[in-house]
Amino acid sequence: IRMILIGPPGAGKGTQAPKIKERFSCCHLATGDMLRSQVAKKTPLGVEAKKIMDQGGLVSDEIVIGMIKEELNNNRECQGGFILDGFPRTVPQAEGLDAMLRERSRTLQHAVQLEIDDSLLVARITGRLVHPASGRSYHTTFNPPKKNMTDDITGEPLVQRSDDNAEALKKRLVTYHKQTSPVVDYYKKNGIWSGVDASQEPGQVWKSMLNILDKKN
Ligand code: AP5
Ligand code: ZN
Repeated sequence: IRMILIGPPGAGKGTQAPKIKERFSCCHLATGDMLRSQVAKKTPLGVEAKKIMDQGGLVSDEIVIGMIKEELNNNRECQGGFILDGFPRTVPQAEGLDAMLRERSRTLQHAVQLEIDDSLLVARITGRLVHPASGRSYHTTFNPPKKNMTDDITGEPLVQRSDDNAEALKKRLVTYHKQTSPVVDYYKKNGIWSGVDASQEPGQVWKSMLNILDKKN
């Protein structure tokens, strides 16, 4: 499969993408996770990216396009296709992705938008807990870990993301509506867009996604 997931912060991209990966044996590439791993390693890129991420802005198109290109070229899991989570987020990124695929005589099959009202996102974001090494996320109320503050699989501690506060969320939402909404129109125009009601419970969101993916592949 070759698809992307578009949606505002907290829409459920990182919750649904691993299920796609499992079901379709493809790679799951999340630019946010890749950037956070640079931040954790304190690379020069990570140090610069952290400032932007904590302010709810976007890292430069060149950097994220380069990261995706590198993975599509070298990550063996991507031979079975890919699900992109959080990329593209600007029209130049969408054009960059099209160019990359054109080079391999491939096209994107699905652009799925997780649609949800902004008002529902505050609770999702402020209650989120993540396992940094895997990118797995939990929620204090909606999806609590089995043991308090530890990852179900590794038992390692869960943390809160530094951009998961009400103030940074406001800016991330503004950025989403301004810069990423045009990406939705881009895919509506080329006919591969589908929308899913992301306010449903996670299992129901997954069912809605499968309906779309099984239909036209
Ligand atoms: P990124 O990591 O992509 O963050 P985001 O887009 O803000 O999205 P989130 O990860 O917050 O939300 P999600 O949709 O994955 O939600 P989740 O499934 O975890 O990007 C971070 C930053 O990096 C950006 O702000 C930017 O600075 C930079 N960046 C990244 N990509 C970039 C790019 N391409 N270009 C430029 N800059 C880039 O769910 C959230 C919570 O809700 C969880 O606790 C979960 O358990 C819970 N939940 C999930 N689904 C449901 C449900 N159906 N019902 C109830 N609770 C649910
Ligand atoms: Zn995410």
